[in-house]
Amino acid sequence: MSDSLVIRADHGAVATLTINRPKALNALNAAVLGALLDALRAIAIDDSVRAVIITGAGERAFVAGADIGEFVGASPVEALAISDRLKQVAELIEAMSVPVIASVNGFCLGGGMELALACDIRIASSNAMLGQPEIKLGIIPGGGGTVRLVKTAGVSVAKMLCLTGEPVGAERALGLGLVASVHTPEALADAAMELAGKLAALPPFALGQAKASIQRAADIDTAAAVQFEAQAFALCFSTADQKEGATAFLEKRKATFTGE
Ligand code: COA
Repeated sequence: MSDSLVIRADHGAVATLTINRPKALNALNAAVLGALLDALRAIAIDDSVRAVIITGAGERAFVAGADIGEFVGASPVEALAISDRLKQVAELIEAMSVPVIASVNGFCLGGGMELALACDIRIASSNAMLGQPEIKLGIIPGGGGTVRLVKTAGVSVAKMLCLTGEPVGAERALGLGLVASVHTPEALADAAMELAGKLAALPPFALGQAKASIQRAADIDTAAAVQFEAQAFALCFSTADQKEGATAFLEKRKATFTGE
């Protein structure tokens, strides 16, 4: 496979973007988010693309989160920059007129969940695990997770996921309205392509208008809410518990939080 961090493959009018960092379960570092932003910007001005699929390379993960390695020594200002990169990707996906499908082929955690929530439709493999585990790292979602979760699945689901940090399996996610359908791991890519093909055959202007209209209906001051969340996320980086959470993960041990 190519060593590009994001691989684009076009089949007719469907562009598939594969996040390609499987050894780190496709965790989103600055370089991956930069490559994803570049790929999405190219698609946004490419009239030949009528539908987009985003998925993860390998068999284990869609995206297992933002890159925790970038969290360890991060200051609040640097944390704001981490948040801003994912915010740019999410906002571009929502602003693009073409529909974007998240094909969730495994772990979909933290920033991965936030990326999937920005997509228009999510479908999942039966082995997928979806959640917002940031609380276990002494932080909160910082890429729009608290906001888009509320809009996608409601306040109580958002609190259950963000306050416990526990992920849910694909079938549970289906019941909670987080994903539209569940497929065997072997069938997921074909199901995503079939759905994308159907969307690509529909009138693009009307599709774009439907997407924009639904987006507007759901967007009751999303920008201000996301900005509040980003600052709350960044403030977590002033705590010792945040340093402990990220360090313990990288050292493969259980974190001990002191409340400092
Ligand atoms: N950031 C950086 N690296 C990550 C990562 C992340 N979010 N998620 C996984 N990785 C890396 C691991 O460090 C490991 O790297 P290594 O082989 O160099 O040690 C590799 O991906 C495989 O992960 P590993 O933890 O060994 O796999 P696992 O099957 O035991 O556990 C998960 C899988 C998804 C449960 C576990 O990786 C995990 O909890 N990841 C973090 C999830 C998270 O908190 N995301 C939110 C971040 S804001």
